[in-house]
Amino acid sequence: MKVILASDHGGVNLRQEVADVLTELQIDFEDIGCDCEGSVDYPDYGIPAAERVAHGEFDKAILICGTGIGMSISANKVKGVRAALVHDLFTAKVTREHNDSNVLCMGERVIGPGLAKEIAKTWVSTEFEGGRHQNRITKIAEYENK
Ligand code: RB5
Repeated sequence: MKVILASDHGGVNLRQEVADVLTELQIDFEDIGCDCEGSVDYPDYGIPAAERVAHGEFDKAILICGTGIGMSISANKVKGVRAALVHDLFTAKVTREHNDSNVLCMGERVIGPGLAKEIAKTWVSTEFEGGRHQNRITKIAEYENK
């Protein structure tokens, strides 16, 4: 599995925590920043990361901003991306099982690092269930391709 990791200035600290988790799990990842002291714009990081998932260069992305909302809105504009905004362990698991989400978004100003690290671990290690859930994802893809 290859993961791309990005944040804006509001997610720098949590991005480092997630990088530590991916290293611990021996998951291959690329961290594209931001390397920022000042303010940056989350679409400048979220959209390129989501595109690299959509194009098949990476299997998954983990995107962090202050709330996770800007990153999730941005990533979901990219065709083929199913970005999930997650702040609890239940939806971390179920969004992989049911939605086959390929982008995880979290907000550094919403949850603490301990929970965020557990969410990241759960999300990267949970498999899609397929079956009836595949039909629903196919309908989303059909809409995108209209
Ligand atoms: C940046 O201040 C903040 O708006 C951003 O990190 C994010 O929360 C947007 O959704």
